Amino acid sequence: MPEPDTRRRERLDLSWETAEELAEWCVPLPVDAYGDAHRATAEPLPAAASQLARAAARFGRDLGEAGLLHVTGVLPPPTLPPTPGRPYVELRHPIGTEPLMLALGGLVGEVISFADWHGGDRVQNLYPLRAEAARQNASNAVYLEMHTETAFRPNTPDALILLCLRPDPGARTLVCDLHEVWDGLDPATRGALAEPAFAFHLPDGTSTEPKPVATPRGGRLRFNYADALCAVDERHRLPLRTLREGILARTVEITLRAGDLLFLDNLHLVHGRSGYGPRYDGTDRWLQRCLIRAAAERG
Ligand SMILES: [Fe+2]
Repeated sequence: MPEPDTRRRERLDLSWETAEELAEWCVPLPVDAYGDAHRATAEPLPAAASQLARAAARFGRDLGEAGLLHVTGVLPPPTLPPTPGRPYVELRHPIGTEPLMLALGGLVGEVISFADWHGGDRVQNLYPLRAEAARQNASNAVYLEMHTETAFRPNTPDALILLCLRPDPGARTLVCDLHEVWDGLDPATRGALAEPAFAFHLPDGTSTEPKPVATPRGGRLRFNYADALCAVDERHRLPLRTLREGILARTVEITLRAGDLLFLDNLHLVHGRSGYGPRYDGTDRWLQRCLIRAAAERG
């Protein structure tokens, strides 16, 4: 695995005092993290977390080139229940970190949700489900293919935040910066990837509407990618393969620990996860996630 590009990877280790103050601040706050009837704004973070707040706001301003922000030291709730065995949309018990997720999301941009995904919940809870083990989603156990989060949607999020509540040392989060891959591509390959020539094959034998992998956005590039993407003709096959090989060569691995926060710039990072071995006994890996639209995209 290559060394990550430090220009686009920032790390912030919270002090014990800051983490304790944050944990205390989270407890009494009522939030509407679940369901789709919620207040638009979250409570601001306490003053003790000003360094974290500044880092999150800076990440939001830099979207498009913000890369990865890895924060360590958040205290998971001491009374974290066993990892559930059914979708969280059937439970929706706040576990205490929702105010933090929503506040951080609000500093990066605007937390968004999809009515047809996790029931419109703004804080999404991700853990392995036995019935999903072999599928291509975050509840699986097999290798989760590299992807832009909800790629090619009109409202594809610009960023996401992940919080590790319960880790699994066997599950490695995979991240690749497509700017780094792009920098190594020749002009012809770049040109081909900017053409609407990439689609997904559907089970009924048809394909989705062809779209470009790279599109201009505010003077920068927005990438949409998933390993399952196919070129619609011969001319675009090699450029896609070249991109895929570049991603393979430049992917970095992160083994999340309890209390790790990852801010991912979804405009130019793709992510995935190694396969691992869930036990389905309440001790499995558990993440929370927020999807975010850049502030400049509002309204
Ligand atoms: Fe994802």
